[in-house]
Amino acid sequence: MTASFNVTGLPGAAFGATVRLAKPLHQEMPQDLPQALADAGGLLLIPGLGEISQDPKLLVTLSYLFGPEVEDYRTLLTRVTMAHETVPEIFMVTNMVPGARPPPRRPNPPLTADGELPVQYPHRSGWHTDQSYRRPPPDISLFYAATPVAKGSGQTIFASGHLAYDALPADLKARVETLEGLHAQPGSGRSRGDAEAGKTPPPILPHQRSQKQPVARTHPVTGRKALYLCESGQMDWFDGPFVGLEPGPYGEGAKLLDALMTHYTKPEFIYAHEWTQGDVLVWDNRCLVHAATWYDAEKEQRMMWRTTVRGNPGALYAGEKRSWIPGRACG
Ligand SMILES: [Fe+2]
Repeated sequence: MTASFNVTGLPGAAFGATVRLAKPLHQEMPQDLPQALADAGGLLLIPGLGEISQDPKLLVTLSYLFGPEVEDYRTLLTRVTMAHETVPEIFMVTNMVPGARPPPRRPNPPLTADGELPVQYPHRSGWHTDQSYRRPPPDISLFYAATPVAKGSGQTIFASGHLAYDALPADLKARVETLEGLHAQPGSGRSRGDAEAGKTPPPILPHQRSQKQPVARTHPVTGRKALYLCESGQMDWFDGPFVGLEPGPYGEGAKLLDALMTHYTKPEFIYAHEWTQGDVLVWDNRCLVHAATWYDAEKEQRMMWRTTVRGNPGALYAGEKRSWIPGRACG
C-alpha cells in the first residue's frame, strides 16, 4: 500500500495483483509500481486508465517506470503499419489495420469438459514469453485495452513461471537446472508445424538465428527462479527445442517440452483476464508466459496497445550485443 495506489489480489489467481491508482496518470505517475510488480510475482492489472486513449504518450511514460528503455517499433524490424502512427513505442495488436495478424484459432474443442476456458497445454496453444528469440530478451510488457472485444472472448491468459518452477517434481527440476531452450522467431520456418510437415527451413541471416535461453531463469530483481519456455511457434523444432537433447518434433527434447509445458499451464498456475476498456496489464516476461485467445474477427474489432521495456535481463546477459540487430549478431 502506498499513497499512490491500493493493491488487492487478482480474482481466482495465486499470483498477480490489482492496482487502483489514487489519481489519474496525467496528474501523478505511480513511482512504486515496479516494486508492486515484483511483490506480485510479475503481473499487475491497473483498471480505469481510459485517459490513455486520449493521450497515448501516457502509456509510454508509464512504461518508463519499469526500465530504462522502451522499444521504438520503427527500429525493430517490425512492419511499420503495426506501430502507432504518432507514438512509435506503441505496437498495435489489432484486426483494425490492413494486413494485421488474425487472432489465434479457437481450441478444439472450444471449451473444457467442465465448460471452462481451455488453458492447459496442449489443449491451449500459443503460450510464449515476448521476444524470447532475442538476446538479451525484454523485461516487461504493458498492454492497454483501447477497444477490447466482448467478454467471453479475446482473453489474455497468464501462467506463473515461479509457481510452476517451485512445484516441479524433483526429477524435472534437476533436469532443467542447467538446460537451455532454443527459441525461434515465429514465422521463421522453424516451428513445430514446419518440422512435422517435413519442410526444409529457409536460410536465415545471423541476426535471425534462434537463441539459447535458460529454462530455469533467475529473476534479476527477486532472485527467484522461474520456468522460461515457449512451445510450438516460438521454439526451434529443427535444432531444438533444447540444446543437447535429441532434436525435432518426436525426439527426447519434444517429450520433455510437452511435459514441462503441460505442467507450466496447470490451472492452479493460471490467471485469465477478461478485458474492460481502459485496463492496463503489466507483465514480467522474465517469470511468466502468456497466450492470446480467439475472438470473432469477422464480427468484432479489437485494438490493444503494447509497449515493451528492456534493460535488466540479469547477469547472464551482461555485456551482450543485441542478437537481432543486423551486423551486430553474436553467433
Ligand atoms: Fe505476447
